[in-house]
Amino acid sequence: MAKHRIAVIGGDGIGPEVIEAGCRVLEVLAETQKDLAFDFTRFDWGSDYYRRNGVMMPKDGLAQLEGFDAIYFGAVGDPNLPDDLTLWGLRLAICQGFDQFANVRPSKLLPGVVGPLRPELGQAIDWVIVRENSEGEYAGVGGRAHRGLPIEVGMDVAVFTRAGVERIARYACETARSRPRKKLTVVTKSNAQRHGMVLWDEVCREVIRDYSDLTVDWMLVDAMTQRMVAKPGTIDTVVATNLHADILTDLAAALSGSLGLGATANVDPSRKHPSMFEPIHGSAFDITGKGVANPLASFWTASMLLEHLGEAKAAQRLMAAIETVTARREVVPPDLGGKATTVQVTDAVIAAVRGANA
Ligand code: NAI
Ligand code: MG
Repeated sequence: MAKHRIAVIGGDGIGPEVIEAGCRVLEVLAETQKDLAFDFTRFDWGSDYYRRNGVMMPKDGLAQLEGFDAIYFGAVGDPNLPDDLTLWGLRLAICQGFDQFANVRPSKLLPGVVGPLRPELGQAIDWVIVRENSEGEYAGVGGRAHRGLPIEVGMDVAVFTRAGVERIARYACETARSRPRKKLTVVTKSNAQRHGMVLWDEVCREVIRDYSDLTVDWMLVDAMTQRMVAKPGTIDTVVATNLHADILTDLAAALSGSLGLGATANVDPSRKHPSMFEPIHGSAFDITGKGVANPLASFWTASMLLEHLGEAKAAQRLMAAIETVTARREVVPPDLGGKATTVQVTDAVIAAVRGANA
């Protein structure tokens, strides 16, 4: 039986707390399912590593990760280090180095979870937002000049390439096609940004021609925010730029209950490199070490990881266990209005995995 080789990078803050909880759950899934096994390798990279070594990960970090089937990642961010250093030094170094150009974020209101929308609207949320993850507004291109002078300037150049837009549009179309509603919304801002966003529109339009089975509509990003709130049931799969989707996915997470529930995948669809799976929340300094972080996002993340590895049955078993726990409302973490600890929520999900198996 082939074991799935998983690189585990807990990172900073609550990252290691929720990722170790996720590893426990994955081990129980393996225990209760024939032909499923994992081989976890831990990497202690992150801000403490930086304090000891002056870098967030070793120089040959990517080479060390290259042979793994997937990366299970917590969060980075430290109260005493600049966010751009920690983010670019580890998370973005991996995403960009492995060309994980598709960032995929599912959203739905899990059973028993109360979101901020009226119930009939909240329950209509069933979205996958596909975020361009390699270029656009976060390409890292730009510069500063004339520092300290009245004419000082700072520029970030949004980079849109034909190849970059084409591959994300195609990935989004494939995602939309794999879902029952076969519906895609393309988010843009080509009314105000006349170059890159116009290329984005043109290339998306070309790609969509190959997908005549999809229903496609277009939204300006500002209008998209109000559609997500007012008419969530009209949305299914969404494709948006790096910046636009960054914002829309936080809105999606809030509308579906809590940041403690959001999961995401950074995918290299070519599978030349391992893809990376992470909860969308950060290192949450305010609750680090208190044992109260909600691990459900990291469990949902693990389910996405399983799906990517071709373990659809295990992915579904895990999602079902998560939903059993949220639906019962007996073991509820603080961010969802209860008092349960990380360990209690983890134990409840493990019991649900075993229970469904009994
Ligand atoms: P955050 O996501 O860490 O926290 C925002 C709020 O949500 C906090 O009140 C926190 O306690 C709560 N929260 C987050 N996850 C939770 C969970 N699982 N259970 C319960 N409550 C949870 O975002 P913030 O405060 O803006 O950033 C803190 C640090 O994390 C910064 O250094 C930031 O750069 C970094 N960050 C890293 C990310 C990553 O590694 N992918 C993503 C977002 C932020
Ligand atoms: Mg974000």
